[in-house]
Amino acid sequence: MRVFIIGVSGAVGGLLARNLTDRGDEVLGLVRRADQRDRLAARGTVAQVGELADMSAEALAPMLSGVHVTVFAAGSNGGAKKDTSEIDGEGVVKALEATRLADVPRFALLSVLPEAGRGDDLDEDKEFYFAVKKLVDVTVSESYLDWLILRPAMLVDRAGTGTIALGPAQPHDEISREDVAATLAALLHEPLIRRQILELTQGSTPIEAAVHANIR
Ligand SMILES: NC(=O)c1ccc[n+]([C@@H]2O[C@H](COP(=O)([O-])OP(=O)(O)OC[C@H]3O[C@@H](n4cnc5c(N)ncnc54)[C@H](OP(=O)(O)O)[C@@H]3O)[C@@H](O)[C@H]2O)c1
Repeated sequence: MRVFIIGVSGAVGGLLARNLTDRGDEVLGLVRRADQRDRLAARGTVAQVGELADMSAEALAPMLSGVHVTVFAAGSNGGAKKDTSEIDGEGVVKALEATRLADVPRFALLSVLPEAGRGDDLDEDKEFYFAVKKLVDVTVSESYLDWLILRPAMLVDRAGTGTIALGPAQPHDEISREDVAATLAALLHEPLIRRQILELTQGSTPIEAAVHANIR
């Protein structure tokens, strides 16, 4: 499988690239800087350098030529409104349109559990972030493409356990980035999982079994 990851320089994006490469997939992606491209090349990922915020869907589309699935794993993580708007908002819409223009059949979005910040007395930037994330999920879910939206709980940097809870609705908790990447890789390898929003948190079901249980 040929996978293009927007956000391949990020923590989850990088782990996903590694997981897919280990499975024998071909991984391509978009990064902002040449040093990121060179670091990824050493791991077998072919990245192109470009600023998503300044790029049109028409400019992005040729990079997706021959790809089987576009994965969007970039985002501001609740940072400044401008970045959230340009990347988590318009960036996703642009990537979705580029995917359509390039005749790529599948689009996977790494989103967030909408209630992740509940009770946290969020600042204005974070409130905006959660609102944008939800609206973009709506846009992707209305696409005729073969889409998939994965909403993980709070991401943590501990070793993956290989066991998760995955389904249309999950309580908000935590999940290791390694397990998010492994789950996303397994989902990408299961073509019967399509046009679904799946929420993800740490749990007790092995990843492959959890993915299989969500085939509709
Ligand atoms: N944090 C959480 O608890 C949480 C929970 C659920 C879901 N998520 C979602 O998971 C996603 C990935 O998380 P992560 O931990 O892997 O994030 P990360 O390590 O911060 O990676 C973010 C990626 O987005 C790119 N990016 C950020 N701002 C950008 C901009 N202005 N223009 C272009 N690219 C930009 C980064 O590029 P550079 O490397 O060039 O900066 C990087 O590739 C988040 O974006 C969020 O939507 C997060």
